[in-house]
Amino acid sequence: MTVEKKGAKMNIKKIVADMSLRQKLAQLSQYTCDFILKDAEGMITGPAAAFNLTAEDVASIGTVLGACGAELTNKIQDTHLAEDPHKIPLLLMADIIHGYKTVYPIPLGMGATFDEDIVEECSRMAAKEAAIGGIHVTFSPMVDLVRDARWGRCMESTGEDAYLNSKMAAAQVRGYQGNFESKHNIACCVKHFAAYGAAEAGRDYNSVDMSEHKLREYYLPAYKAAIDAGCELVMTAFNTLNGIPSAGNKWLVNDILREEWGFDKIVISDYNSFREMIEHGYCADGREAAEKAVKAGNDIEMMSNTYITCMESLVADGTVSEELIDKAVLRVLKLKEKLGLFDDPARGASIEDEKTVFLCEEHRAIARKAAEKSAVLLKNNDVLPFSKSIKKIVVIGPYANKGMNGAWFGMGSEAESMTVFEGVKKLLPDCEVLYLAGCKAGFAEKAENSYDLIEEAAEAARKADAVILCIGEDSFESGEAFSKTSISIPDAQVELVKAVTSVNRNNVAAIFCGRPLVLTDIEPYLSAMAVMWQPGTEGGSACANLFFGECDFEGRLPMSFPRSVGQCPVFYNYLKTGRPQETPNGETPYRTRYLDCLNTPLYSFGYGLSYNEFEISDIALSSDKMNSDDSLIATVKVKNVGQRKGKTLIQLYISDVFASVARPVKELREYKRIELMPGEESDVSFEISEEMLRFNTVSGEFTSEKGLFKAYIGADSDTENCAEFFLI
Ligand code: BGC
Repeated sequence: MTVEKKGAKMNIKKIVADMSLRQKLAQLSQYTCDFILKDAEGMITGPAAAFNLTAEDVASIGTVLGACGAELTNKIQDTHLAEDPHKIPLLLMADIIHGYKTVYPIPLGMGATFDEDIVEECSRMAAKEAAIGGIHVTFSPMVDLVRDARWGRCMESTGEDAYLNSKMAAAQVRGYQGNFESKHNIACCVKHFAAYGAAEAGRDYNSVDMSEHKLREYYLPAYKAAIDAGCELVMTAFNTLNGIPSAGNKWLVNDILREEWGFDKIVISDYNSFREMIEHGYCADGREAAEKAVKAGNDIEMMSNTYITCMESLVADGTVSEELIDKAVLRVLKLKEKLGLFDDPARGASIEDEKTVFLCEEHRAIARKAAEKSAVLLKNNDVLPFSKSIKKIVVIGPYANKGMNGAWFGMGSEAESMTVFEGVKKLLPDCEVLYLAGCKAGFAEKAENSYDLIEEAAEAARKADAVILCIGEDSFESGEAFSKTSISIPDAQVELVKAVTSVNRNNVAAIFCGRPLVLTDIEPYLSAMAVMWQPGTEGGSACANLFFGECDFEGRLPMSFPRSVGQCPVFYNYLKTGRPQETPNGETPYRTRYLDCLNTPLYSFGYGLSYNEFEISDIALSSDKMNSDDSLIATVKVKNVGQRKGKTLIQLYISDVFASVARPVKELREYKRIELMPGEESDVSFEISEEMLRFNTVSGEFTSEKGLFKAYIGADSDTENCAEFFLI
C-alpha cells in the first residue's frame, strides 16, 4: 500500500473563529453540485426544493452530495476554492454502496458470504475507485437490521442478525478507511441511525415503535460496531422512533450516540430529513426543526435549509448557543484536515487513474470472487455441478442476458456487467449456448403477451443437455422506496419454470433478488435452485463458474426466506411464546400458528448447501458449568463425507433458557469456516465466554444472568444439535 504524505496541521480553530455565523451554517449544509456549477446535474434522491441560497451561502458550502468523476469533482473543488472566503475545501460525499465502477454484489449478498475478508477487500476496492473518482466520504455501511422482506432496502443491509451485521459493519469500515494511510482510503458513514430497517409493515420511511430493550438487543449493536471500528460519520434516519423523528431525537443522538458511546465525530442528516420533521408533525416550522436537529446532536444538514434560514435568529435570541454550531463546524473541518484536503484538495481524484483502475482485471477478479462467495445453493437434486462436456445448454429467463447490478450501483452500468448467457459462453467456448427470454422482466411479465414466449423456451429446453433459468426480480424492484406486498415469483415466471422443468430435469434456477423472495411456487418443480442476489459486474461469470463446478457454493442466507408473504416478518431468533407450535406439521390447536401455513420459513437464516456433504458430531463441552470469569470450550467433529475438497460454515448459537426477560429461541454468537479433504475429519471448537451470555435487561443493564443455557452448533439456525450448561 502506498503511504502518502499526511496533511500539515491547519489551525482549524482559528478558521472557525474567523468565520461568520452564516458561513458556519453554510459549512454545515450539504447540497448537490448544481448549486456550485450551474451547468452540472445533481443527484436527486428525494424531494427537490428551492433553497433560496445567496451567492455568499453557495461560496461557503461545506460539503457536496453525489458528484462523481475526477473531472467533475476537480472542477467543483476548484470553482469552490476560488469563491470560498476562507479557502476551505469541500468534502465530496456520495452513496458508494457496493462498488463505484466495478460493482460487487448488493450488501445483502455480501452478508451471505459470512466472510469478513471478502467484505473488507471489496470495500477497499470501492474506496480506491471512489477516491480516484473524487469522492471523500461514502454513505456506507448501511447496517439497519431487517426482518421484513417486503422492505425494499433489504438489499442494502446485511440482514436479520445483529452479530452478523456487526461483523460486516466493522469489515466495511476497515476496508473503506484503513488507517487513512493512502489517498485511496475514504471516510465512511454508518446509517441510518436508528432502526430504520424496522419500518412498520415493511413500507419504506414508515414509523418504528419498539421497546428500548428490543432496540438495544437487536438494532443498535451494528451501528456501535461500525463506530468502534473507527467510522467517521453517522447518518440519522428518516423514521420516527417511538414517535420522535431520529433527526430530532435527543435521546438517541445526544444521549446514546454522543454521550453513552462517546461519538464525537460528524453526524449528518438524511436527505431533507430536518425539514421532514414538519411533515412528521413533530415541528411546526423550519425554525423548530433546526433547533431540534442541532440540539439532538446533528452537525450537517443534507438537502434542506433549516440551518441556513433559521439558525441565525435562533442564535440571536439565545435559543441555540453559537458554541454548539462551532463544535459542529470543527468536526467537519477536522475530517477535512484528516483527509489532507487543505493541502491537496483534489486528493485521489485522477482522470489518468480512472482509465487504468476502473474495471481493471484485478478489480473484476475481486468482484467475481465476491459474487461466487455470496451465492447460496438452496436445492440440488444431484444435477449440479453440470458437466463441462455437455454439448448444448440453454439459458432462459428475463435475467439471462441482462447485467444485474441492483440498486445503488454507483457509477457502474448494467451494460458493462457480464450476463449469465455471456458467462456460460465464455466458460464453455465449445458448447452450443442458446439464450431465450422466456418471459418479460420486472413487473411487465404480468402483461398478457409475456406468456407467449414460454412455449418457444420450453421447446429449446427439451432439446438441450441442461437449462439455466434466470428468474426473480429486477434490479429496480428493490432499493429505497421500493417496498412490495407481493414477493412471490411472478406468474409468468412460474409458468415458465413449470414448462421448462417438465421437459428437462437437468435444470437449475438462478434466483436474482434484492430481498428474500417467496419461492414456494417454483421450488417443487426445480431440480436445483441458487440465490445469486444482484451480483454486479462479474455476476454472469460467477454463475457459470458455480454451476459448472469451477468453484463451490459457500454462501449462507443472511435473512430467512418466507413460505408466504403473510409470515413477514419471519426471522430465526424470535422470542419464545407460552404456546409454541410443537409439532412440525403445526396442526395442534390453540398454539401460536397460522391455519394455512407453517410458522417456519421455507429456508432459514444461515442455510446454504455446497457440493459436499459434511457430518457434524454431537457437542462435547469442556464442562457443564462455568462462572463469570471462566469460559467453556464447545467442540464438534466435522467430517467431509463428500467426494471433493470443500468448505463449510459451522455456526454457534446460544439460548438463554430462563432469564428476567423472555429471550430468543437461539442467537448466533460465532461462526467458523473450515476446509476439509474428502473423508477428512477435524475438530471445530468455540470458546463460550460469559460475555457471549450477556443481554440488555429491561432495567437497562447489559449483563448475564446465572442459570441454564444451551449451546447449539450446526450448519444453520435450524440446528437441534445442542448441549446444556450452567452459568453459576
Ligand atoms: C437515503 C440515504 C442516502 C441519501 C443520499 C437518502 O434518500 O436514505 O441512504 O445516503 O439519500 O443519497
